[in-house]
Amino acid sequence: DTDVTIYPGLLSLTSQGELVRTLKTEKAVKADIDAAVKLLLKLKADYKQVTGQDYKAGCPPLESTVLEDTGPAAAVDGEDMVDPWNVSTTSAKGVDYDKLIVRFGSSKVDQELVDRIERVSGKKPHRFLRRGIFFSHRDMHQVLDAYEKNKSFYLYTGRGPSSEAMHVGHLIPFIFTKWLQDTFDIPLVIQLTDDEKYLWKDLSLEDCHRYAVENAKDIIACGFDVNKTFIFSDLDYMGASPDFYRNVVKIQKHVTFNQVKGIFGFGDSDCIGKIAFPAIQAAPSFSNSFPQIFKGRKDIQCLIPCAIDQDPYFRMTRDVAPRIGYPKPALLHSTFFPALQGAQTKMSASDANSSIFLTDTPKQIKNKVNKHAFSGGKDTIEEHRKYGGNPDVDVSFMYLTFFLEDDEQLDKIRQDYASGALLTGELKKRLIDTLQPMITAHQERRKQVTEEMVLKFMTPRPLDFNF
Ligand code: TRP
Repeated sequence: DTDVTIYPGLLSLTSQGELVRTLKTEKAVKADIDAAVKLLLKLKADYKQVTGQDYKAGCPPLESTVLEDTGPAAAVDGEDMVDPWNVSTTSAKGVDYDKLIVRFGSSKVDQELVDRIERVSGKKPHRFLRRGIFFSHRDMHQVLDAYEKNKSFYLYTGRGPSSEAMHVGHLIPFIFTKWLQDTFDIPLVIQLTDDEKYLWKDLSLEDCHRYAVENAKDIIACGFDVNKTFIFSDLDYMGASPDFYRNVVKIQKHVTFNQVKGIFGFGDSDCIGKIAFPAIQAAPSFSNSFPQIFKGRKDIQCLIPCAIDQDPYFRMTRDVAPRIGYPKPALLHSTFFPALQGAQTKMSASDANSSIFLTDTPKQIKNKVNKHAFSGGKDTIEEHRKYGGNPDVDVSFMYLTFFLEDDEQLDKIRQDYASGALLTGELKKRLIDTLQPMITAHQERRKQVTEEMVLKFMTPRPLDFNF
């Protein structure tokens, strides 16, 4: 499976260009040259229509995944499998994220970018940036260039409400999005795809909608400012906002069945709701989907923090954007939050033993970590002291990299664990001591969230920004 997908028309374009040149150098009859040039121009126009880019000899389109019709982009790469619905690998260290960057054609969040975010924002970069948890991006430099010239942007993220139970992994994009909002002081829209979950799972519409409202409470408990944040359920907002639906239809007109088949792997027996859905996840990337916030402007740049498995939706979005006259959204991608059993797969709400839920009691947290968290330690204390543990496969250590704020402490834990000075039980205790107060505090904040507050967050209204 190759990383770069070549636009099928590219080959004919290249050979047609060659033909024109040959005809000219060989001084062929004018009518033949003219006919060849005419075909070349048509191929170029087609190329631009499909890719949104001008043809340059020898350069494949930058993001051509949307044109692929040879099977899902999320195909198996060695052992790693990553698409919006599945994550698995055979490596205990987890998915090879550097390979994923190459496969998806995104860019690495390198030290230079982290330093630049620090310079531009004047704030210490969030631990998710310092530690490579938001590891990949598209167009972040462009967003920062514009921001430095006082051009604002907005944030868009989301969640598929498939049950009432949210786990700590679900908080990762929201914790980070909250930091971005505080740091850059910009509007935020949060899409709850209750429609998506209805289409994909065996759930009723009413349950999906109810989960959306329940999940909104956990999201609000992350501390978002109601004057700067709009949370919406697709089931509600699609019917309430003509501008949103107009964008959905525009996107639907510019993506073919072949293209979504290539990106998402849809087949003949998938319901047509699934095939139409990607346009609904794409639409919030365009500012005029929210006229109440952006006063009808369509040129406000969007930045989407999300887990890397959502990228297929936004590769499609970025491919469509220029063809319908909108800026491409920028992206910041996170790694997955590993399951308790190990980084071969991500935490899943449908497997109670793989997850720490936001509703777990301190005792449940303690028992789950002690009983289920995969350990990189040795079998006996003697061996562990002698050879040391392996933090790279140890789930408790991985969770600490997500949640322990202090860099020095984290580094010391890593060293002590690797040397054998720190035992598995002690490492687990550090994690339990970090998670318990964090989850308790979340539960307390969630209790403060009233129905009225949820209603306000979810009502289309202007936010505290002037566009
Ligand atoms: N499809 C996502 C999920 O199942 C939900 C989602 C919608 C989303 N829009 C988003 C996630 C934007 C991240 C960014 O969880």
